[in-house]
Amino acid sequence: MPKITFIEKNGAKLEVDAPLGLSVMEIALKNGIAIEGACGGCLSCSTCHIIVHPDWYEKLDEIKENEEDMLDLAFDIQKTSRLSCQILMTNELDGLIVALPGAKTPWKDSGINGLL
Ligand code: FES
Repeated sequence: MPKITFIEKNGAKLEVDAPLGLSVMEIALKNGIAIEGACGGCLSCSTCHIIVHPDWYEKLDEIKENEEDMLDLAFDIQKTSRLSCQILMTNELDGLIVALPGAKTPWKDSGINGLL
C-alpha cells in the first residue's frame, strides 16, 4: 500500500496508508488530518490546500488554470502549493510528503509568488 506523510501545523509527521485512486484530500479526511475539503473536491474552494515537498512537486500532474485560480484564495500559499483534491494517488506517488498550511518545514518558502 502506498504511503503519504502529512506534516501538521505543529510540525508532527503522520504517515498514512494512501489507497490508489483516492485523492490526497480524501486520504487526509479518512485519517483525521486537519484539512477541510469544504466543496467535496469539486474545485470550488481552497480549503484543501497543501504544500508539496519540492522533491515531489515535479512528479505531480501539471497544475491546471482553474486550480491555480482557486489557490490564489488560499492561506499560506507557497511555490509548491496545490489543492489536495486534485492529486490522485498513484504508485508513482508512494512516499509523497505534504505539509498543511501554517506548518513550519525547512523546505517551505514565503510569498514566492507574490501572494502574501
Ligand atoms: S475540496 Fe474544494 S477545491 Fe479541493
